[in-house]
Amino acid sequence: MALLSVNIDHVATVREARRTDEPDPVWAAVQAELGGADGITFHLREDRRHINDRDARVLKETCGVRLNMEMAATDEVVDIACGLKPEQCTLVPERREELTTEGGLDVLGHRDRLGDAVARLKDSGILVSAFIEPSRDQIEASKDAGFDAVELWTGGFAHARCADDVACSLSLLQSGVETGLRLGLVVHGGHGLTYRNVSRVASLPGFSEFNIGHSIVSRAVLVGMRESVGQMKSILERCAPRENG
Ligand code: PXP
Repeated sequence: MALLSVNIDHVATVREARRTDEPDPVWAAVQAELGGADGITFHLREDRRHINDRDARVLKETCGVRLNMEMAATDEVVDIACGLKPEQCTLVPERREELTTEGGLDVLGHRDRLGDAVARLKDSGILVSAFIEPSRDQIEASKDAGFDAVELWTGGFAHARCADDVACSLSLLQSGVETGLRLGLVVHGGHGLTYRNVSRVASLPGFSEFNIGHSIVSRAVLVGMRESVGQMKSILERCAPRENG
């Protein structure tokens, strides 16, 4: 069964709406862990709009499950990651004007620059993943650049509005998973997954982990983080493909 890594950025988004000290994303991470999360994901953005350096440090000190740090491949953040040593770093595109990460990294177009960041992170003992669209070219380029894993962007599926587009995006994801596994990459998925849509993607064989944030944090406001994570875990368990156990 695919693991669930809970993205807690939006707990910090609420905190930053008032530039105060609550709610604390570190407390949310503890609750997510108690609810059954297999990992905690956070994005240390260059503009620090939600998670900040203190959060990253305290998460590293306190988190009992795998820590996945999303980040742009800039020198400043790579330096921080090499010092922090989370279990995994996921390189993502970052634009200041975006609401959240939009689409995947262009590994094909920036193979050399990304390859340098990957090498530095791997030298620090960190598993490195590329957040990319599920295209064969980008998956092959990620392998060439030295990534250990790819996180396939599931936004295309999440945003699909008609049955044909849904079927087409699921088939792209399935062939992306197969390409990744054939190249020896670990394959994750994430973006736009919700309680309503996750079962279609989680039923596809081959995914190791899903990174889910907004939907879980949204439900946590109503039912609490422990409960909201437990509910998402139950769905993943129910629809896990037999191949993955
Ligand atoms: N994976 C990556 C690489 C992301 O950047 C994000 C958003 O921060 C997510 C997964 C989670 O997306 P969502 O908040 O839509 O579940």
